[in-house]
This record gives sequence, C-alpha cells and structure tokens, in this order.
Amino acid sequence: MKTKQKILAISGSTRKNSTNHRLLKAIAEISKNNFDVTFYDELSLMPSFNPDEDNENVAKEVARFRQLISESDGVIICTPEYAHGVPGSLKNAIDWTVGTADFSRKPTLLITASTDGKYGHAALLETLRVIEAKNISELQLLISFASTKIDAENKIIDSQTLNNVKTLLNKLEVAMDQSTAETE
Ligand SMILES: Cc1cc2nc3c(=O)[nH]c(=O)nc-3n(C[C@H](O)[C@H](O)[C@H](O)COP(=O)(O)O)c2cc1C
Repeated sequence: MKTKQKILAISGSTRKNSTNHRLLKAIAEISKNNFDVTFYDELSLMPSFNPDEDNENVAKEVARFRQLISESDGVIICTPEYAHGVPGSLKNAIDWTVGTADFSRKPTLLITASTDGKYGHAALLETLRVIEAKNISELQLLISFASTKIDAENKIIDSQTLNNVKTLLNKLEVAMDQSTAETE
C-alpha cells in the first residue's frame, strides 16, 4: 500500500472558529486515506520578519516553521482576504521562508476562502509563484462567500466547491508523486 503523503495545512486566519481552519479540517477528512495532515496554528507566535535576524540564530518559531515545511511532501494554505490583501501574519511567515527557499519546488495548494477574496488571492499567488511553489498556477482556488459553503460539522455543502476541492486534491497528489520521483 502507498505511504500517506505528509501535508502541512496552514490557515491564514488565526480566528477561533475560522472558516479557513474548518475548510482545512474538511480537506483532511476528505483526503484521510491518502494524506497525513499536520495543522500549523502558530502564525501568531512568529516574530516580525527582519532580514537582520534571518541568520543561524533565527528564532525557534521560525526554525520550526521552516522545518515543518521541509518535512512535508506538500503544503495547503487556506486563507481569507483582509482589506484587499493577504493577512499580515501569513505574509510575515512566508517572508521568513524566502531566504531559505523552503517553498521552492514544494507542491503547494492555495485556497482563498473569503467573502470575495480576489485581490488577496492574486497577491498571494504572485508571492508563491516568485518563491517557486511547484505547480502553483494550477493548484489554486478562490472560494467567495466561503462561510455559506461549509457547515458547522466542517462539511463542504456546496457541490461545485466540493468538486473543485476534490479535483485540486487529486492534482496536488500527482504533483507530490512527481516531486518524490524527481528526488529518487
Ligand atoms: C479586518 C477585516 C477585513 C476584511 N477584509 C476583507 C476583504 O477585503 N475582502 C473579503 O473578501 N473579505 C474581507 N473580510 C472578511 C473575511 O475575509 C471573511 O469574514 C472570512 O470568511 C474570514 O475568514 P475566517 O472565517 O477563516 O476567519 C475582512 C474581515 C476582517 C475582519
């Protein structure tokens, strides 16, 4: 039997009862036979990015975030949009990975789940593209009016959204298989 692929799931919302966090839970449930999902919920603990502090004595929270990315076969980011942009705490964490290229060649799925979300989605897609997240132009989905598409039991109740998510999870699995084959 194929070993489960390791996924790091990052919610761009630190809010209790976040739709994005619940969407990640729904994804973990849908993919439980194939993916072993670790939820990263320490964005609030990360220090503000400072290039002067990006050295061998980097903060333990930063070192841990980088390690979790490097140990994973793939990353799934689910995030809201704030003020037509990417939530600051998520962008801050990603900025800490630029110098060490942790996302480079890493299969990464971006889902923006927000009221609208198009500006933040486009901005984060561009960031992930420039830091070389693998296949990012095809591994992405914008879910507008997201809070109406997932229920209190963390089930995706909109059939089109559910189909889109399942299709993307299959594509992510293929991208991770390709990455594994390339490194063998
Ligand atoms: C300060 C603030 C700014 C927001 N700005 C936007 C926005 O620009 N565009 C948008 O689509 N939603 C915006 N929203 C709404 C959130 O994106 C929406 O409620 C989302 O579902 C929150 O995600 P969460 O449930 O995972 O926390 C904003 C919410 C807050 C609190």
